[in-house]
This record gives sequence, structure tokens and C-alpha cells, in this order.
Amino acid sequence: MSPPGRPKGSYRSAQREGTPVSDAVAPILTLEGVESFYGETQVLFGTSLSVAPGEVLALLGPNGAGKTTTLRAVLGLTPARRGRIRFDGADITRRPTHEIAAMGVGWVPDDRRIFPTLTVARNLEIARKRTRFRAWQMSECFEIFSALEVLMARECENLSGGEMQMVAIARALLGAPGLVLFDEPSQGLAPKVVQDVMATVLRLKSEGVAVLLVEQNVACALAVADRVCVMQGGRIAHACAARELRDQPALQRHWLGI
Ligand SMILES: Nc1ncnc2c1ncn2[C@@H]1O[C@H](COP(=O)(O)OP(=O)(O)O)[C@@H](O)[C@H]1O
Ligand SMILES: [Mg+2]
Repeated sequence: MSPPGRPKGSYRSAQREGTPVSDAVAPILTLEGVESFYGETQVLFGTSLSVAPGEVLALLGPNGAGKTTTLRAVLGLTPARRGRIRFDGADITRRPTHEIAAMGVGWVPDDRRIFPTLTVARNLEIARKRTRFRAWQMSECFEIFSALEVLMARECENLSGGEMQMVAIARALLGAPGLVLFDEPSQGLAPKVVQDVMATVLRLKSEGVAVLLVEQNVACALAVADRVCVMQGGRIAHACAARELRDQPALQRHWLGI
């Protein structure tokens, strides 16, 4: 909620601090000063951001900036050594990954992580869980990815990259997410599948699910995102409304080098 009497013009500074565009909706995910390490090597240097229900936050930036590690920190896979992470009103900073997932954090990892020797149907069956959020039906997944239905009996090791991505996304939806973390979902996919993936992001948004979207495809990300955080060297170097970057090529060049 917006504090009463908030001065006009604080909108931009609020965005720089990583608070949502809409002050009316409290964030469901908040990172405050997160520092993460691989062994002794520090990779995140005080990352702060937040995502509200029904909001799409694009996390952009060059390779090695720490985008994947940020998602891994949320999931407790590369836990925050300092700082704090809250999801859905709870402090999840030191919770084990399975508990974080059980609370409704869905993940579409960059390497997909499908069980290769299991069928599509089995991979999806074991992904079902109950959270306080809505579990999507299998029929809805077929609606989104029409190719999925005919693949159900196939073993996953025989799938194409695009087919695996459909399975990875359907798996996240069946797990009843309140937040979905996408890690470069369009990478290596045919344009039609990329379109389906971005349509899924918008559908999640329309259902009030929060989305944290890491993307290399800046045009796609800007087309669906409400806000953008640009990450450089393990820090959020810039945060703004997606509209600002869409409308101002000079800003895109400055922050994204394109
Ligand atoms: N498993 C790992 N062990 C050690 N360093 C890693 C590991 N994974 C990533 N890194 C390093 O952490 C930094 C951030 O990586 P990452 O979060 O994957 O960046 P991005 O997703 O933005 O490309 C990079 O310098 C990378 O080399
Ligand atoms: Mg990455």
C-alpha cells in the first residue's frame, strides 16, 4: 500500500528501489540486499528487487551478471548468505528448496531438468502439487501448447528442445504456482514456440500470478514485462518501467548494449 501523502514524483524513485509499479498491490516476492556465493566466490552483491501478484518483472543483463544465481537464491539452491528473501508473507531466506517449491514457487530452469527416461505424462504427473494457489489443469496446458497432448506417451529423451520447454512450463503450471521463475525460456526455440511461451507469461499475469522472467531476447521480454531490472556484475544496475525501455532506444543501448 502507498503510504498516505506520498509525494507525487516518487514513482520513479520507488521503481529504482525495486518496488512494484502499482503501489496498490503488495509484492509477493521481495529480495533485500541478497549476497550469494559459489564457494568463496561472491556472485550477488546486495541484490534487491520485488514482484507483485499479476506483475511481470524482466531481469535482463549480460551473461555472467548473476541472473540465474538470483533465481537460484530465491529457490534456496544458492542460498543468500546475507540479506533477506520473502515470499508470500514468509521469510524463506534459509528454507530448504523443497519447502520453497511447496509454497508455490515454480521454476522453468534454463537446462529444463526433465527426467529423460520418463514419459511426458509421468514427468507431468509427478509435478502436480497443492499450494494455496490454483493448480492448473492438464487440459489448460494442452490449450496453451497444443503439441503437448500428442507427446504424452513419449519418453522425454526423444523430445526436441521446444517440446522439452513445453514440458518444463507445463510442469511449473501443474505445481500451482503463485510465482514462476523463468530462466531464458525462449532460448533455442522456434518463433511459434517463443510466442506460446510469452502468451503463457501473459496468461499467468492475467491470473494474478507473479512472474520473474530472465531473458536474452530483449524484444520478447519488453513486450510482456511491466518492469525491468538490469543486472550487471551481481548488482541491479538499473530498474525502470518496461515502457521506458520500449519507448527509448537510447536507453536500451545504454543499459542493454543494443
Ligand atoms: N556453479 C558455479 N560455480 C562457480 N561459479 C559459478 C557457478 N555458476 C555460475 N557461476 C558464476 O557466477 C556468475 C553469475 O552467473 P549466472 O548467475 O549464471 O549469470 P547469468 O545467468 O546472468 O548469465 C558468473 O561469473 C558465473 O561464472
Ligand atoms: Mg543464466
